[in-house]
Amino acid sequence: MEFLGTNKYKIIHGDALQALKYEVKDNSVDLIFADPPYNIGKNFAGCKDKWNSDEDYLDWCYQWLDLCIKKLKTNGSFYVMTSTQFMPYFDLYLRNRINIMSRIMWYYDSSGVQAKNYYGSMYEPILFCVKDKNNYTFNSEEIMVEAKTGSKRKLIDYRKNPPQPYNTRKVPGNVWEFARVRYRMEEYENHPTQKPIALLDRIIRASSNEGDLVLDPFSGSFTTAYVAKQLGRSCIGIELQEEYIKIGLRRLGLSNEYRGEVLHRVMKSYRREETEEQLSLNF
Ligand SMILES: C[S@@+](CC[C@H](N)C(=O)[O-])C[C@H]1O[C@@H](n2cnc3c(N)ncnc32)[C@H](O)[C@@H]1O
Repeated sequence: MEFLGTNKYKIIHGDALQALKYEVKDNSVDLIFADPPYNIGKNFAGCKDKWNSDEDYLDWCYQWLDLCIKKLKTNGSFYVMTSTQFMPYFDLYLRNRINIMSRIMWYYDSSGVQAKNYYGSMYEPILFCVKDKNNYTFNSEEIMVEAKTGSKRKLIDYRKNPPQPYNTRKVPGNVWEFARVRYRMEEYENHPTQKPIALLDRIIRASSNEGDLVLDPFSGSFTTAYVAKQLGRSCIGIELQEEYIKIGLRRLGLSNEYRGEVLHRVMKSYRREETEEQLSLNF
């Protein structure tokens, strides 16, 4: 295990179970966002996301789920993701150990190739849980969205006395539409399951306050830590793969060098084309 970063923005290069067990204090974290490998065969820097059996995967998950609950403060919040096929097991396991407040569906339009012989997957599930349902942070004012009901058409709500226009803003429901991170997007990093900044922005604004501690045990491209820093929170990011640690160091502005290697963003091929085009125009 290796420790990088600063006290405020910690990066732990190592295994999530070990790091959670030995390096994070119990009852110390305000918000945890956990986006583990989904056991669907993705390639994380050469490491295949596939367990020998579903039982093995779930046994492993139950261990870090327990640890996450242990690390949360009594007023803390926990958001957890996994694939659609495993989320029912997480749900059943967690409902006896923590309060599940919302079952969120992150929906995206997958305009690329879609399944032809069954219904293609267009969403990923997220559970929003709190330790104490009578005492937790929820900054609803911070995450308001435009209401698509009568407010848009300036309808009057006659159920109210006296009648009033419909509210124009509301707390988002449990279906969240955010575009997936694509190659051409500014925020793109070289990680197969990078989560969008907009998704983490909503979660961190709603469920933590400035100065709070946010933890991500499976940091990947470090979106959680990046957004936490932007929003004035402290963070701990744990990640197993060195390739992604390098992304974290750079993305968090902690270092532009790692063991003598200069860290820079992936040079996108269309940028290269643009540069070459510009060069040929210039000469
Ligand atoms: C679904 S991805 C997380 C993506 C991340 N939320 C983002 O926005 O980029 C899961 C990550 O967990 C990492 N990982 C897998 N096993 C791990 C372990 N035992 N401990 C820590 N990280 C692990 C993988 O390398 C991968 O980057």
